[in-house]
Amino acid sequence: MAKNRRHLLDAARAVRRNAFAPFSHFQVGAALETADGQIITGCNVENATYGLTVCAERVAVFKAISEGHRKFTRIAIVADTDEPTPPCGACRQILWEFAGDLEVILGNLTEEKARHQLEELLPHPFDARLL
Ligand code: THU
Repeated sequence: MAKNRRHLLDAARAVRRNAFAPFSHFQVGAALETADGQIITGCNVENATYGLTVCAERVAVFKAISEGHRKFTRIAIVADTDEPTPPCGACRQILWEFAGDLEVILGNLTEEKARHQLEELLPHPFDARLL
């Protein structure tokens, strides 16, 4: 595996340890790479209402946007599962809005499990071009 993909997965693994997931106990970490090579991380943050839970991917995107980043190349997503954890529908839409067709790297605590382009995961997206 390319060294920099491993680096991105490791960043997702590290931030996953901060996940606030007392309800599902399903901890997720995400690491978003900016076009200039910086890594912005996020973990899932749950809420007692359940519905206000925010996924790791969206936390990473919103952190990045609020810090002024606007161009992204890849995101790594990590959970402690054998089956890879792909982004949920809401996160796919948010990723598309801010990152377009970025590479999505899925892994667990020890290995990379899959790679996709966001376009495969979100075919025929709705976006500002259609407004
Ligand atoms: N979750 C994520 O953070 N990212 C995903 O890609 C899938 C699901 C979180 C939301 C919730 O806190 C927990 O995992 C169980 O759904």
